[in-house]
Amino acid sequence: MTPEMLYALRDQAGVPSHPVVFLILGVLTFALHIAAVQVMLGAAALTLRGAFSADPKWRRLANAMLTTAKIAVSLVIVLGVAPLLFVQVIYDPFWYTSNVLSAWWVIGFIVLLVAGYIAMYIFYWKNHHIVAEGGKGGIWMVLSIALLLAVGFIVHSLSNQMLFPEQWMPWYAPQGHIDAGGRTLHYWHLPRFLFFIALSAPVTGAWLYGYRRYLQGAQETDAAYLAFVRALAQKLMVVGGGVAVLIGAAWMLTLPEKMAWFAGSLWMWVALAALLAVVAMPLALRERIDTGFWGYGIFGAGAVAIIVVGAAREVLRYVTLLSAHGYDPLDYRVNTDWYSTLLFFVTFGVIGGVTLAYLLTVAWKSGQHQGQGPYTPSLAISRIGQWSVTLLVAWIVLYFAVGLWVWIR
Ligand code: HEM
Repeated sequence: MTPEMLYALRDQAGVPSHPVVFLILGVLTFALHIAAVQVMLGAAALTLRGAFSADPKWRRLANAMLTTAKIAVSLVIVLGVAPLLFVQVIYDPFWYTSNVLSAWWVIGFIVLLVAGYIAMYIFYWKNHHIVAEGGKGGIWMVLSIALLLAVGFIVHSLSNQMLFPEQWMPWYAPQGHIDAGGRTLHYWHLPRFLFFIALSAPVTGAWLYGYRRYLQGAQETDAAYLAFVRALAQKLMVVGGGVAVLIGAAWMLTLPEKMAWFAGSLWMWVALAALLAVVAMPLALRERIDTGFWGYGIFGAGAVAIIVVGAAREVLRYVTLLSAHGYDPLDYRVNTDWYSTLLFFVTFGVIGGVTLAYLLTVAWKSGQHQGQGPYTPSLAISRIGQWSVTLLVAWIVLYFAVGLWVWIR
């Protein structure tokens, strides 16, 4: 596949703002997506481990983690759409070819995702009293985790097939016979996939530190439970972090030839240093973990480390496609469209910001509420809620108004 052919596959309309904007947003949103994936998988695994335990502390954790996993799936999906948009804008010749070559799996991905989410809900419906009665129907949770992992594996395969344009023809027409069925996943790299999955352990450990700090803020009295969560969080971070780094090393040692330059590159070391710094953070903080925001800070630092890993992953893709195939996403033709750029950032920053601020504040405050009766938001918080609804309505009106205007004029 020559660079000219790859360039010919681009959208001739160009992109609405500089491609670097899409590149940066792609890295940031991928990091958010993968962090949510890791919390989802970690919480689901802890649910399974805890629900059937005789130890009430494990059961209580399983109960909390089931709620976390359920919500995390929806975040995984929402935060998965964002990098999907960015990757298909600046890497469209690669992304779409990879998708078309495995079209069945692209559609199957949705079916498996829906089935995986339903399986998790079936487990939830069967387990409203995990703490008192223990877990029931663990097979549903096993099925859910397996299906969600299968979904991740498909995306992994799609985002790796795109890196091998030299293989597209043999995949599409093996021995010269066209196979337009799209029924095959043609490429995967297990150490790479497992690296991202194994990071679930330290990321979930960091999440548990935040969960524990939250309980402390709500004046949790069960000291044994807090100590249990802390010991588990630490183990997940140190042991799980170590395992993830080892799998990462296996990935680096088995990189395909044209990507071998990445092993030992500055980016690889920076990503490793970021991961190790987060794993060491609780050991360095010691008792400060129980004060101020430090307990939450570990997850915050973990998110930064995941952004660094995401950036290194992007460098691997960018340099490989540039050096081995002569494709530079940053020279995409720019056809500036201020309206859509502005709309995107306003939607993200203002509407997303206000709505999220409201939801998170209410969730936070109600969890920390100590007084008699249910929690009632203050006037100021209710105002933010009213603003978020107003802004959403205004956005919808604007969306249709502009569409109508373009259509009529
Ligand atoms: C529910 C289970 C899911 C799991 C376990 C999962 C896991 C993963 C993993 C491991 C990667 C990194 C692959 C690699 O670099 O080799 C990834 C990337 C990605 N995922 Fe997910 N994912 C899930 C769901 C989703 C969903 C529902 C979407 C979209 C709506 C999505 C969109 C993406 C995108 C766009 C990328 C990056 C593609 C790229 O930059 O090349 N994922 N995911």
